Amino acid sequence: MDKSLKKIVITGGAGFIGSALTRYLINNTNAQVLVIDKLTYAGNLNSLEDVWKNQNFNFLKADICDFLSIKEAFNSFEPDQIYHLAAETHVDRSIEGASAFIDTNIIGTYNLLEISREYLRNNKKPNFRFIHVSTDEVYGTLGPEGLFKETTPYAPSSPYSASKAASDHLVKAWFHTYGLPCIISNCSNNYGPYQFPEKLIPLNLLNALEGKNIQIYGNGENVRDWLYVDDHVHALYLLCENGRIGETYNIGGHNERTNNQVISVICKILDEKFPNNASYSKLINYVTDRPGHDARYAIDATKIEAELGWTAQEDFETGIRKTIEWYLKNPKWWQSIRDGSYHGERLGLI
Ligand SMILES: NC(=O)c1ccc[n+]([C@@H]2O[C@H](COP(=O)([O-])OP(=O)(O)OC[C@H]3O[C@@H](n4cnc5c(N)ncnc54)[C@H](O)[C@@H]3O)[C@@H](O)[C@H]2O)c1
Repeated sequence: MDKSLKKIVITGGAGFIGSALTRYLINNTNAQVLVIDKLTYAGNLNSLEDVWKNQNFNFLKADICDFLSIKEAFNSFEPDQIYHLAAETHVDRSIEGASAFIDTNIIGTYNLLEISREYLRNNKKPNFRFIHVSTDEVYGTLGPEGLFKETTPYAPSSPYSASKAASDHLVKAWFHTYGLPCIISNCSNNYGPYQFPEKLIPLNLLNALEGKNIQIYGNGENVRDWLYVDDHVHALYLLCENGRIGETYNIGGHNERTNNQVISVICKILDEKFPNNASYSKLINYVTDRPGHDARYAIDATKIEAELGWTAQEDFETGIRKTIEWYLKNPKWWQSIRDGSYHGERLGLI
């Protein structure tokens, strides 16, 4: 592993994937890391507890929409690389109100691109990289067959995926027009420790543990291609170190599961670990579907596998066990969220 003394900015580093990436870089490289995060409801400094006291870790509370603050941060920290993860990320919240998604995901990304461009005009950074972390949701929905390839046309369905698609187009334009050394990743659904409990897996795991209803949208047959968060982080690291500038890479673990299958595995593991009189599956409740709910996502990850030698280390069965064990061992992390900013109520109905 490269041990050179790089300076790396991570936007959104107090979120789910950003905090996992921060832990990875602090624990496995000598890089100086600056996390820039607005600390929205989804940002959590407790997710950075393991690295907070490390001498290579730095934190700035700032909004990527605040051009001057971010520009100043670039000029004083002098990054060699930026991993851009800051975003509004929950589809259901984007249905209730898209404004923050337009601001952060589009305007915020535009700011970072312009700030990087100006910064590179004034600083010699021949190996600078801008890693834009995006989602497979930009491709829209698949039928029962087929996989998303890097060449699949964009067809976003939700305000969230539309705002991410817009940001991807900006990044591509800044590469083609200005030569900004960008790489885009389009990754499938992540799961793992420190995920905010509004997303399918942690929400329903905690609901089940508390004896509350497990909520499955529609008939539960929607398919996602699940990837353990540390596999995503490793892929991002490889992209930044060895990926080709101006390219897009799809990331996914070949772990397609329906929501019914995901919930059934969670219930089975809880039945094993905490047997009750009745199976946890008795808590399952089918609720009104999400408006515009995409039927199926699945990734063709051949490009990153062939070019960078990346493969997912976890399959869904090993990854979900690790995830459940982490939530069981870390109630302090999620209890304050469940008691405070989000209690598990239904979001995203029009
Ligand atoms: N979670 C997934 O399954 C998944 C899959 C593929 C791609 N992605 C992408 O990965 C990135 C990270 O996703 P996540 O699940 O970790 O998200 P998250 O919601 O857990 O975290 C987002 C972080 O961004 C911060 N943030 C939000 N608005 C900001 C702003 N204006 N300025 C600065 N910081 C701000 C939040 O405080 C939070 O810490 C996103 O860009 C998302 O689109 C996520």
